[in-house]
Amino acid sequence: MKSLGFRLIVALIVGITVVSTLSSWYGVQREKDELRLDLEHKAETFSEGLTGNAEPLLLNGDRDSMTRLVEQFGNRGQLLGLAIVDPNGAPVAVTRSIASYLRPAGAQLQAALHANKTISAYTRIRFRRVYLVVAPLHRADKSVAGAMMLVYDTGFIRAATLRVWGLALIHFGFQVLIIAGITVLIVRWSLMRPIARAARWMHALRLGGDETAPPMRDLDFLAPLANEVAPLIASVHEARAAAAAEARLRNAKEQIWTAQRLADNVKTKLAGSHLYVVSNREPYIHSRGPQGITVSVPASGLVTAIEPILCACNGTWVAHGSGSADRLTVDAHDRLPVPPQEPRYTLRRVWLTGEEEQGYYYGFANEGLWPLCHIAHTRPTFRAADWEQYMRVNEKFADALVEEIGDDAHPVVLIQDYHFALLPRLLKERLPHARVAIFWHIPWPNPESFDICPWQRELVEGLLGADLIGFHVQAHCNNFLDTVDRALEARVDWERFSVKRNDHWSAVRPIPISVDIPLDDHAVEDNRSEDYRRLLKQEWNFEASWLAVGVDRMDYTKGILERFLAVESLLDNHAQYVGEFTLIQIGAPTRSTIPRYAELQMELEREAERINVRFRRGNWRPILLVQEQQEHSQLLRFYRAAHVCLVTSLHDGMNLVAKEFVAARRDERGVLLLSRFTGAARELRDAILVNPYDTYSTGEAIAQALGMESAEMTDRMRRMRHWIKEHNIYWWASSLLSALCDLRIEPGVEAKPSQIEKLVP
Ligand code: F6P
Repeated sequence: MKSLGFRLIVALIVGITVVSTLSSWYGVQREKDELRLDLEHKAETFSEGLTGNAEPLLLNGDRDSMTRLVEQFGNRGQLLGLAIVDPNGAPVAVTRSIASYLRPAGAQLQAALHANKTISAYTRIRFRRVYLVVAPLHRADKSVAGAMMLVYDTGFIRAATLRVWGLALIHFGFQVLIIAGITVLIVRWSLMRPIARAARWMHALRLGGDETAPPMRDLDFLAPLANEVAPLIASVHEARAAAAAEARLRNAKEQIWTAQRLADNVKTKLAGSHLYVVSNREPYIHSRGPQGITVSVPASGLVTAIEPILCACNGTWVAHGSGSADRLTVDAHDRLPVPPQEPRYTLRRVWLTGEEEQGYYYGFANEGLWPLCHIAHTRPTFRAADWEQYMRVNEKFADALVEEIGDDAHPVVLIQDYHFALLPRLLKERLPHARVAIFWHIPWPNPESFDICPWQRELVEGLLGADLIGFHVQAHCNNFLDTVDRALEARVDWERFSVKRNDHWSAVRPIPISVDIPLDDHAVEDNRSEDYRRLLKQEWNFEASWLAVGVDRMDYTKGILERFLAVESLLDNHAQYVGEFTLIQIGAPTRSTIPRYAELQMELEREAERINVRFRRGNWRPILLVQEQQEHSQLLRFYRAAHVCLVTSLHDGMNLVAKEFVAARRDERGVLLLSRFTGAARELRDAILVNPYDTYSTGEAIAQALGMESAEMTDRMRRMRHWIKEHNIYWWASSLLSALCDLRIEPGVEAKPSQIEKLVP
């Protein structure tokens, strides 16, 4: 930094020197020109007057008068002296002080006499700078009778220019001092101090402290550097936290899964194989907006679960490119490295036409399979045209996967969800050596219900192409095996939970998905819950002493309407909560081009309004319906503020909101009210379980939750948190991968029972 300051100062001094020298030189020239002009003007006027006096004296040969004249005028101001000469240049009368100048000035005298005109010149005579004026003296006929020479001392001009140079030098000195001083201050305050602060900050972060970041204005010129350093530090922190957690866990002899442990496990399990994940929703969506291209991560537990696996083994994720700027961000092979900040794996995008998306996603997957698998009394719609698109898109994804896998000898493929029932078979037919699993994230209904699907055989046949088929709970595995039994010619092995079809075995396993729960979140004994409530009430401008929260996509399977009716029942039967209890319902808009979803949205708005109008008092209302997607970090505020979280799905594969709520309650408070028709109800036994169709009982369960003793609440929450810590998202990902990698998949050889059965609740 010192040498930077020194270099800056030297550069500035050189610059100032050049500028000052040029401007001083220009000033000196101007001063010199003005003084000379003035002198020349004076000399001209004076010589004109004097020649008029000298001419008659010369013509009369009056030497005495001429001598008096030259002595009288010869010593005025800068005039050093005068001389009068005859036509040959011989002196007639000369001021004594310049007598010796006549010979050196001979050339000018002769020039004026010969040319018969006034000659002037700046010259140097006897080491003196002088200005000579030689004016011819005339007879009456204008012929030359002689000349008069005036000699001026010009030393004063030089003295004046030296003075100007001197002043310029003094200015220059001051400028250098001031500028060097300012430079030193700027370097210290604006460069060295912010850099020193930033360095202290990074140092503290590196050592694991929590020093607050320097103000942004400090960092703005370091922004490019800061942008690189911030993720680096975040990674260091993550790595350190993971290592610390691992160490803690080792000490505690616990078997808790972390992202790091998952990554290590993945490497061991894959043993060099390449991993491919397929899902409809992509992990990073690029969109065009007023700020240019932005990237977002969809609110889905899947990204949290799958990403660490892919990062650990530099895998490939194949998904539908649905963002408006997705095509602008891929290479010629429709691939891009992700995560954008720190690429660790490849995202391969598959493009769908509007017609394909409509038929495959909105139509067959979400108007057909979704209501078919969720028994929630919305009639499935099966259209042959949608089925066509579903088949076409499954084939499109199979093509993309085959292209990505290329000649990979040991590919491991994890397919996600009901959008890709046909993909396992399509893939296995083309790449029999691939190890393939599909995880079905929604329920599997009983065989009678599934039977209404016109293409049930094709769907089951497609799924049985997989080596492993995963569901959240055992009941869905059982339903699936029953369906296989009914729909196809296949051998179902109930002991090993496997199906043999055409010499190929598929293992069927329950592996309940979960959430990420920070491990160092020990019980926090503070009043943060109260603080969160106060802030939310301010933000949404309502009054309430008791707060419940519901967080859902606005889907008819989530039992939101039933929840509203349960709130109405609570208020009808427990008057003490009128004016005191509010349910904040976060409803993220979803699949809104499907008529049933649009209807549901209107129905929910109408019902919330009806109940609000019925009970409203001043600034209090029983239901606050917030129809927007909230980031996970924003949702935490609602979870932490709530006395009770209402999860009243009519049917749900798992329901991660229930687990997210528990994971968010590091204060070990709050009550979870959970529909017994969710997969989560099989694990979270300490929730208050409800039948959402029974709105009276659900209302009573809310009253029970609000009245629960503090000790009981904490006991229940602690047990649920303990469960989730042991069965977190990394446990799920590792269980799924282990179950797949532990299978023997040679054709004709029976699959080994997986280790996973031990782990399943
Ligand atoms: O529950 C099944 C699921 O596919 C989840 O994985 C996902 O979060 C949700 O449904 C909504 O999915 P999408 O908005 O992609 O239709």
